[in-house]
Amino acid sequence: MKNKILLIIFVAASFFNTNFIAHSEESIEDIIKGRKAIFSNNAKLAKRVNILLRNFEFEEAEPFILEMSKNYENLLNYFPENSKEGYGTEALPIIWEEKDAFNALMQKAADDMLQLAKVMEEVDDIQVTYKKLMWSNCNACHSRYRKPH
Ligand code: HEC
Repeated sequence: MKNKILLIIFVAASFFNTNFIAHSEESIEDIIKGRKAIFSNNAKLAKRVNILLRNFEFEEAEPFILEMSKNYENLLNYFPENSKEGYGTEALPIIWEEKDAFNALMQKAADDMLQLAKVMEEVDDIQVTYKKLMWSNCNACHSRYRKPH
């Protein structure tokens, strides 16, 4: 009787255990693939914003600018400790050594997009403005935190 109970506990525990590992593996995959998808989407949005602003189509550009800002904010949650490798990630380990600096850059990228939406209709040179508030943040981060291409 006692042995039977122990066996049941053992089976239940190992079932829970493998289930748990399978589950956390799956979420690492979700996290890495998820952040790649968000970055790809932001790259597409940035190109769209670039074209619209160059043509002074501010109203059309605004929702895409705000979406990019939200995406950056969301990306702050996509770099947990257990997502350093696998699934073709190009994120460099230095991200987790300097997590505060990395997060600050992400937050700056988000804030700069809001700033862009705020000032875009008043600036003298819109191209200089979107280079500074949108494109320069991509490089500032990639040059230190993403594998070189
Ligand atoms: C604060 C940091 C940061 C900022 C800002 C940033 N990126 Fe990235 N980006 C990364 C990291 C880190 C990766 C690698 C993610 C991975 O592979 O897990 C990446 C990956 C990418 C990818 C590849 C996605 C894939 O499918 O593998 C593209 C495209 C990209 N970024 C474009 C941009 C563009 C365009 C901008 C600016 C408009 C930008 N990023 C701003 C950090 C940043």
